[in-house]
Amino acid sequence: MYEALQPARNALVIGTSDGIGKALARQLLDRGWGVVGISRSPGGPRGQHYRHIVVDVRSSDYGSAVESVWADRSVDLCIYCAGIGELFDAEQLRRETDTLRVNLLGLAETIERVLPRLLGQGHGTMVGLSSLADVFPGRAAPGYGASKVGMSYYLEGLASALRQRGVAIVNVRLGFVDTKMAKSPVRPFMLDVDTAAARILKAVLAERPRRRVNIPQRAAIMMWLLARYASTRRLLCLPG
Ligand SMILES: NC(=O)c1ccc[n+]([C@@H]2O[C@H](COP(=O)([O-])OP(=O)(O)OC[C@H]3O[C@@H](n4cnc5c(N)ncnc54)[C@H](OP(=O)(O)O)[C@@H]3O)[C@@H](O)[C@H]2O)c1
Repeated sequence: MYEALQPARNALVIGTSDGIGKALARQLLDRGWGVVGISRSPGGPRGQHYRHIVVDVRSSDYGSAVESVWADRSVDLCIYCAGIGELFDAEQLRRETDTLRVNLLGLAETIERVLPRLLGQGHGTMVGLSSLADVFPGRAAPGYGASKVGMSYYLEGLASALRQRGVAIVNVRLGFVDTKMAKSPVRPFMLDVDTAAARILKAVLAERPRRRVNIPQRAAIMMWLLARYASTRRLLCLPG
């Protein structure tokens, strides 16, 4: 009787106290999923089938917190949304290091703990939220850009390595989404957080998710053109 009340599908979402992760968790709950959220702050969406774990992805307790989720459920979907990003300040290089630790090494630690379980189950989807800014080195936030290049390469490399293993790995490359993370003074094609979350879920819950998802596509085209322009300037050794 009790078993029948449990959700049929469960997600683990890292970074649910705010922003895109919180919106994703809320929309999954609305669709009848059970969700375990992890953040360094308390919070997350309300719901009978939501459980929140407070832990910093940089702490030594993080890996065991992730593994503890399997104690009472299997996980069908894991989305890594934890992230930080600050505009560059040459007096604050620690922030660049921290950005790499949270965005890139936090993803790697998550994958190390989650992937063996998904492979053992023979099904499941692992998703990371990268950025359309992974196309060229920018001066505004070098650590952030480097973390996103690393995330995109790691996720898409894993997706290639693990095809035919029954597990999907998805690199979601986002343009601007209206959260506290979006700090640029100019934010073309910006999406509100609920629209972004709905588009992410549509892509990752598809029967056969693509390994690379660009949201929104027109911002991806704009970034691709900017990257071609920047690499031509570098090739010609023009100042910039
Ligand atoms: N918003 C955009 O325009 C945009 C564009 C491209 C890519 N992205 C990517 O999308 C992801 C989510 O961004 P967002 O806009 O939703 O950011 P956000 O609103 O700032 O939310 C980030 C979430 O990550 C959590 N977090 C941060 N550091 C953590 C840590 N050390 N340990 C555990 N949790 C931590 C935050 O918790 P606290 O509340 O405790 O800080 C928060 O729940 C990020 O990877 C970001 O790079 C965002």
